[in-house]
Amino acid sequence: MTQDQNTPKDRARKEFAAVFGRDPEGVWQAPGRVNVIGEHTDYNEGLCLPVALPYAARAAVARREDGLVRVHSAQADGVVEARVAELAPGREGEGWAAYVLGVLWALCADGHGDALAGGLDVHMDSDVPTGAGLSSSAALECAVAAACRELYGLDYSDPQAALLAQRAENAYVGVPCGVLDQMAAMCCAEGSALVLDCRDVMTVHQVPFDPAAEGLALLVVDTRVKHTHGDNEYAARRAGCERAAGLLGVPALRDVRYEELDAALERLPEGDEPDGKPGLRRLVRHIVTDDHRVERVAELVAAGRLRETGALLTEGHASLRDDYRISCLESDLVVETAVAAGALGARQTGGGFGGCVVVLVEEAGAEAVTDAVAAAFAERGLPAPRAFSAKPSAGARRLD
Ligand code: GLA
Repeated sequence: MTQDQNTPKDRARKEFAAVFGRDPEGVWQAPGRVNVIGEHTDYNEGLCLPVALPYAARAAVARREDGLVRVHSAQADGVVEARVAELAPGREGEGWAAYVLGVLWALCADGHGDALAGGLDVHMDSDVPTGAGLSSSAALECAVAAACRELYGLDYSDPQAALLAQRAENAYVGVPCGVLDQMAAMCCAEGSALVLDCRDVMTVHQVPFDPAAEGLALLVVDTRVKHTHGDNEYAARRAGCERAAGLLGVPALRDVRYEELDAALERLPEGDEPDGKPGLRRLVRHIVTDDHRVERVAELVAAGRLRETGALLTEGHASLRDDYRISCLESDLVVETAVAAGALGARQTGGGFGGCVVVLVEEAGAEAVTDAVAAAFAERGLPAPRAFSAKPSAGARRLD
């Protein structure tokens, strides 16, 4: 066996052939992401700063001629079958395959039903940890979107493909997410962070992001708390933000200026919800201050002053812990322990309620920080967290 046969691409090709009895026409991949800062701002038409991870989902794909779609995953048993003509939101029993079928449905809904009519065989493989807030589902969607775009010669830009994948997740899978994860998976570039303006996704703006060049590391610490139970909480906050924007008479919370925040808060009802969910003032304060933090972090990153962003990250964590109320004991423990052990800053990343924490640290101090976090978890009898260093990686592409 040559060394080549061990690459992810060759593994995907081999597994495709084993399942479907022929070769794929190609293998496409899309990465998971961490968001450096700007959380829950995406559906408020605000700002985020994601980087793509070196972990990705891969789609090995070949077209068919009989109208059938067959989907297989290296991470699941069996082959899920559907007919292209019958794809529709709300079908039962598709499980993980809904992320793949949803993209095909979205393409058909976008006028490409004739192109897709023959059907497809799809083999998926992913090393993006699931349930960890690292966008494993967007990675699947975007790998499939990139494959179909090329195989069918469709004229989608990367942001357009991201919007299509988001539509699959919103309308087909039924998750009311914003566009952060899909934009990161489609548009991130190696060695860069994506300065994402969710009001203007068609303008892609990258900023060089290379912690190692500044003697730093961006650690990603997986708390091992699966964030899946947060779905209702996510929808509730999104609805709250929309209500607040309505009361303030703006199209989205993006339109509340940081300088006018206090005056805006005065115009909203006081207090929290009876069930402990944050009231509108808290939601608005988190969104407006986090948008502002993204601006400041992006400026510092662009100026090669990443080291100075640490305090803003930790401030961002306090905001999502106290105002947005989407943290948990384990995420707070990582942040507090890491900062006490010398990290420059830390915050929970992604949808919330667990998942991962990003920690900005001097490279020389990284081991001391991960050791301190591991010890704090062990002391409390919590499962050991996993940590890795985030190397800003490329967005969706074909593997050649
Ligand atoms: C999840 C959603 C994104 C975004 C983040 C929070 O990852 O899928 O759209 O809202 O949460 O920033």
